[in-house]
Amino acid sequence: MKIAQKTIKRLKSNYHEWVLVTGATSGIGRELALKFGEAGFKLIITGRRGMELEALSAHLSDEYNTESIPVQGDLSIIEDVNKLFSEVSHLNIGIAILNAGFGTSGKFRASNIEQEVNMLDLNCKAVLIMAHHFANKMKAQPKKGAIVFMSSMVAFQGVPNAANYAATKAYVQSFSEALAVELKSEGIDVLSAAPGPVASGFAERADMKMDMSLSPEQIGVPIIEAIGSRSTVLPGFLTKLLVYNLRMTPRWAKVQIMGKVMGGFTKHQRSLVQGTMSKS
Ligand SMILES: NC(=O)c1ccc[n+]([C@@H]2O[C@H](COP(=O)([O-])OP(=O)(O)OC[C@H]3O[C@@H](n4cnc5c(N)ncnc54)[C@H](OP(=O)(O)O)[C@@H]3O)[C@@H](O)[C@H]2O)c1
Repeated sequence: MKIAQKTIKRLKSNYHEWVLVTGATSGIGRELALKFGEAGFKLIITGRRGMELEALSAHLSDEYNTESIPVQGDLSIIEDVNKLFSEVSHLNIGIAILNAGFGTSGKFRASNIEQEVNMLDLNCKAVLIMAHHFANKMKAQPKKGAIVFMSSMVAFQGVPNAANYAATKAYVQSFSEALAVELKSEGIDVLSAAPGPVASGFAERADMKMDMSLSPEQIGVPIIEAIGSRSTVLPGFLTKLLVYNLRMTPRWAKVQIMGKVMGGFTKHQRSLVQGTMSKS
């Protein structure tokens, strides 16, 4: 899928040419970086894996003649967030895509609490600090800018078996919806992208086995096309189907249904525990 020429024209006329994509080493972030590179934007790409960042930077240059700045760092650590700010301080950032994030799954009581807190640090705290920084930076720029948040379809109700992950995305969705209104008068556009299941590095890290999923290629362009034209996008047909199907369902029932869905995604965790118990 390619970005429509009229969208490229609109984005180039409305925003400065530098696009920041956090979490660009795989999945959705990588796809967004490639699409912006192909469209002739300059990129700042981040991730913890230096080799993947360098490889993406080389690919952007070889394939699209695109200039990019790789910034390696763990954004759950405040020093690395500050390092990112200082490395881009001299640039006008047109679009900041706060995509880096991860999920967890399984029974909350059995969860690794340090990992859960780390997820809050990355999915919420880092996003909060970066949004504050880039909103202020954009306010001072001639063409202002746009901030894109990475929410999820799990943001719209509680999700048993992924309680904390869904809560981090509920934070992102609510925060983004409010900022979309607040920052509009400041000339800054805000978009929340709320995909359904996407085949990326996400499921393995979250220990989920998702039955059906979209590819990053199916959701990248719909997210980009929604920048500056809407406040929330449900990218891809499957995402729309899943969210619209539940739209008229009472919230308590949505929690039950999503609990069943996530129960299916984490079934292997219980068969593993049962297998271990029956052997001992
Ligand atoms: N896949 C889905 O089903 C789905 C659905 C809805 C929303 N989302 C959201 O979409 C976003 C992107 O996920 P994805 O599906 O593309 O997963 P992914 O393939 O695992 O990509 C996650 C990206 O975030 C980066 N990242 C992870 N931890 C980081 C940290 N501590 N510091 C800096 N960067 C970090 C990773 O880079 P390094 O490993 O190099 O650090 C990677 O580039 C996430 O916010 C996720 O919650 C995903």
